[in-house]
Amino acid sequence: MGLDRIQTIADLRRLAKRRVPRMAFDFLDGGAGEGLAVCENAAALARVKLQPRNLSDASVRTRSVELFGLRRSGPIGIAPVGFANVIWPHTDTILARTAHEAGVPYVLSTAASTSIEDIVKVAPDAWFQLYVSDSDEIALDMLRRAGEAGIKVVALTIDVPVPGRRYRDMRNGFSLPLKPSLATILDFALRPAWILETLRRGTPTFANYVPYMNENANAGTLAAFMASQVSPNLSPERIARLRDAWPGTFLVKGILSTRDALDAERLGADGLIVSNHGGRQLEAAPAAIDCLPEVVRAINGRIPVMMDSGIRTGADIVKAYCLGADYVFAGRPFVFGSAAAGEAGARRALDILNAEVDQTLGQIGASSMADLDESHVRPR
Ligand SMILES: Cc1cc2nc3c(=O)[nH]c(=O)nc-3n(C[C@H](O)[C@H](O)[C@H](O)COP(=O)(O)O)c2cc1C
Repeated sequence: MGLDRIQTIADLRRLAKRRVPRMAFDFLDGGAGEGLAVCENAAALARVKLQPRNLSDASVRTRSVELFGLRRSGPIGIAPVGFANVIWPHTDTILARTAHEAGVPYVLSTAASTSIEDIVKVAPDAWFQLYVSDSDEIALDMLRRAGEAGIKVVALTIDVPVPGRRYRDMRNGFSLPLKPSLATILDFALRPAWILETLRRGTPTFANYVPYMNENANAGTLAAFMASQVSPNLSPERIARLRDAWPGTFLVKGILSTRDALDAERLGADGLIVSNHGGRQLEAAPAAIDCLPEVVRAINGRIPVMMDSGIRTGADIVKAYCLGADYVFAGRPFVFGSAAAGEAGARRALDILNAEVDQTLGQIGASSMADLDESHVRPR
């Protein structure tokens, strides 16, 4: 299947699955535990039904959205994906450039394989996602580096108090250093394009952490170090300290309740991202789309409420805006694109979603994202 025959994000996923070793594909595609929360995101989005209002004039339509005082060319941005370069080499750079050229936000993960300093050379308008470990030291230094690199927006992720357990990864022996079974080695042998590209580009590292590792760090110690870089201590005092250390726009990502939303706002967040981490952390988590309306009601327009988790179509994006999202992100769809066909694939993912948004707007009689509200969805 060539890129010209790709019509949907699901097509890109299928193509990616053929090109990427199973171990890396499962890392991208899988979720917490056996994947219940991934299914829940999809099922909950499918349950939302759009209510057309066809007695209207939707002949001129725009997909642009204003967010933090800037007009973004489209309604969907690229969420932070850690260790994405293991799925396809240079994915961080590919996604950053795709978003930058399209005029939509790209969020660099703390756990990316490209450093903050290098990503801004490709996308000067990139955002940065922050994890915190038990001590503030590294997080504060990363904020300093992000500021010096010219980053304006930081998103603190709060939904990884402890690392998720993903059984697909555990069964594949996906860990660093890799512990592949014979079947896994054979599977790698069937993906020559991935192997050649990985050999050409070099083994991905956790580039943002390199300054904090000792010089002899190898993949194994880096991975152990990474696992120690999340913390179950996200007390209000810590959040307030981090907030105060960042002069720019400060977002909290991983909100699933009105309580966390109101706490984050009180502690100084400039915006929230309602997310269950794409179903990758808590297997019993509710779908992000189900939590969105109550968070939107509680925040009542005081700060932007954004959303990710499970978005696969333009209709999904439209549903999230109808339910009150001020902006929407996706993670896997863009990495499926990059794994399927590099930069052209990532661009295709964005083009597919944008075209589907435009078509959906027309079909429900709306001319812009700002037009969308709860009257466009069936009461639930
Ligand atoms: C492979 C992978 C790695 C991720 N790494 C991070 C990360 O480092 N930091 C973070 O805040 N979210 C991370 N996420 C979650 C995404 O930012 C986002 O919340 C999620 O992918 C949205 O769901 P979707 O993939 O269904 O669009 C990751 C997601 C994936 C698929």
